[in-house]
Amino acid sequence: MEKIRKVQIGLLGLGTVGTGVVKALRENSGHILSQLGVSIEINKVLVKDIEKERRVEVDALQLITEGSLIVDDPDIHIVVEVMGGLDPAYILVKKALQSGKHVVTANKELLAKRGQELLQIATDHQAHLLYEASVGGGIPVIRTLQAYLSANRVSSLRGILNGTCNYILTQMAEQGSSFESALAQAQAAGFAEADPTSDVEGYDASYKLMILASMAFPVISEELQVQRQGITEIKAMDMTMAKKMDSTIKLVAEGSYDGHSVTLSVGPQMIPNSDSLAGIRDEFNAVLIHADVVGDLLLVGKGAGEMPTASAVIEDVMAILQSESPRIRKPIEPWMPNTSSNQGDASVAWSYLRIKNDPHKNENFMEKFVQNFSLIEDAKRQLVVLGDEHAASDDWMMLVPVSAIDLSHWLMENHFHHWLVLPYQGEISYENKKVVTHLSEAIS
Ligand code: NAP
Ligand code: HSE
Repeated sequence: MEKIRKVQIGLLGLGTVGTGVVKALRENSGHILSQLGVSIEINKVLVKDIEKERRVEVDALQLITEGSLIVDDPDIHIVVEVMGGLDPAYILVKKALQSGKHVVTANKELLAKRGQELLQIATDHQAHLLYEASVGGGIPVIRTLQAYLSANRVSSLRGILNGTCNYILTQMAEQGSSFESALAQAQAAGFAEADPTSDVEGYDASYKLMILASMAFPVISEELQVQRQGITEIKAMDMTMAKKMDSTIKLVAEGSYDGHSVTLSVGPQMIPNSDSLAGIRDEFNAVLIHADVVGDLLLVGKGAGEMPTASAVIEDVMAILQSESPRIRKPIEPWMPNTSSNQGDASVAWSYLRIKNDPHKNENFMEKFVQNFSLIEDAKRQLVVLGDEHAASDDWMMLVPVSAIDLSHWLMENHFHHWLVLPYQGEISYENKKVVTHLSEAIS
């Protein structure tokens, strides 16, 4: 009888993702064996607190609190890092690669900040460093870019890359939940980072965008800058306004390459319900890739949570064992994208603005605004004040033909208070104009 090969893995972390990995390896061990002829065994598991109650049976697992017992163990073939953060994950992953162990990680912060260095160490030591779970949870977006679009040249990426924010925004829009209660639900479901500031302030989505950009464009992640805005300022009244305009608010990550430079941004946008990202609900993520041969490609799936993320981790382990995983990608040659294929009309940039109608903090706001942006002539066409019932309320809400960047800069420079600016991607249609009030009412 043929002898079954046994492979030992060391698990760094037994939280949401680590628990999913243990469950999936146990539940699918027979299937994995039949696919590969390999039995995967968890050798040791690093945790912070050995006494903590676990959601999987741990009697058969050796829980430890000293990471070197994994990265220095010669019997361990693959290290799975699902602990998060830079310290001590960076040192442990580096040591594991230096000793020739393969590493699978779900840690986007580690990849965005130290990816280039770690990939080089992996190459130098003939080890694999795979990270499918770091972006889009269960969506195979990394492998798609690496293996299935390698003859394509990507000119833009656009997507929803944070499950926690998407869950919060969906619950606020559909259930009228408060930001706080929706965040608490996302945390209870295991979607959020240990410190959810990373989710709600857009850092997590920025790390993911940097990773995708470094694969799609001729750049390395450590050198990239992302213009970032979180979702903490979004209020119920913004959701109401979005709904009135057949739109929805999403945290959108965007990246593009113009042949010279890469532009990356993460921030909330008001997008029309016809947009392919508008229907992406709860913890689902989506990535829209525009490339020269394939055209548009939309990948959708669960972007956070125990089992979808565990799926991506285990597929990386399988890929290593099959020795089919694509090797580390070589730097991409710079190229000039065909910009005529880019979507959208960059010449007209509209924004949604909400600002407190407070004569002390925001003195003469309307006059200054209209003057600065030269909106006096034909003002009704150029400025859309939203919601009759809100015209005399504490907040003004309007659509303005000014880019979100220009508008934000102007508001900051002029020290206005209590405002929110979102790029507005919808049409300024007849339907939307139904919610217009006269500019004179707003200025008076
Ligand atoms: P988590 O639930 O907070 O679990 C982290 C685990 O690592 C815990 O078991 C913790 O030990 C252990 N740990 C953390 N710091 C440690 C230290 N200094 N020494 C020893 N053990 C330590 O995190 P998670 O949600 O599973 O996420 C893990 C990684 O996957 C992160 O990089 C995250 O960004 C990424 N990720 C998460 C998801 C998701 O849906 N949650 C999806 C994709 C990627 P204790 O249990 O003893 O505290
Ligand atoms: N906290 C992350 C999110 C986990 O909510 O998307 C998945 O990377």
